[in-house]
Amino acid sequence: MMSHPSRWRLIRYRNSVYRRIDRQGFKSLKRKYRYDEKKKYLRLEHEIWKHLHHAAMLNLDGAQPKRILDVGCGGGMFSVVCEILGHRVTGIDAPSDMYADMARVFKVERVVHTIRAFKSIPELNGPFDLITAFATKFDHRTGEDHSRRKNGRGLWSAAEWRFFLVDLARQMKSEGMFFFKLNKHSGGIEKGRILSKDAEHYFQAIGAKRRLNTICITKKQIEKMENI
Ligand SMILES: C[S@@+](CC[C@H](N)C(=O)[O-])C[C@H]1O[C@@H](n2cnc3c(N)ncnc32)[C@H](O)[C@@H]1O
Repeated sequence: MMSHPSRWRLIRYRNSVYRRIDRQGFKSLKRKYRYDEKKKYLRLEHEIWKHLHHAAMLNLDGAQPKRILDVGCGGGMFSVVCEILGHRVTGIDAPSDMYADMARVFKVERVVHTIRAFKSIPELNGPFDLITAFATKFDHRTGEDHSRRKNGRGLWSAAEWRFFLVDLARQMKSEGMFFFKLNKHSGGIEKGRILSKDAEHYFQAIGAKRRLNTICITKKQIEKMENI
């Protein structure tokens, strides 16, 4: 287990992030999206620290260079931070003008794709060592999803998670790992939960590590469970 980087080291990385970003371009973005509901993601200092802590939690500081896929990458700040630490990142996210503009200013790769239950992810330029997702809601069903539940809402069931993990595991290295920090559901009977009951049992059966709203699973655990 690696130790958490010192505060000074983190400050150095934070300064490197600032140097990498086109500050004029970023200022124009702040003006352009000043009334956007997602404008909180333009608080640069806050976002840099948030993702520096995520990277530290995942022991990415001082690690061998990794190929990382960040699902629901938003504007790509986690990608910037990881790249400063020597890794190569592909982000994938639903269409959004603001996030696309941010990714351009941050100079990160952002593939536009909306994740849907029981639909494969397009072939990306992996294979990946690590697949992350921070604060996303791709597993919160919308009315558009083809769902086996009558109202089509709520959190993904085990079947949907299973499809997603097995599908993405194809694009991972054999020692690959998933790390998800999930958002709580905001309504209905699953309000306050991050996983539906049967998804919770599925993750337990796989042997996933669960801590608060985070889940960590290896490709090997999925292969063992699925006999692949
Ligand atoms: C709360 S933001 C978090 C952004 C970034 N991960 C972070 O931590 O700063 C949630 C992100 O998930 C993306 N997202 C939500 N549903 C998605 C889906 N079905 N497919 C792809 N991306 C999705 C949104 O577009 C948005 O960028």
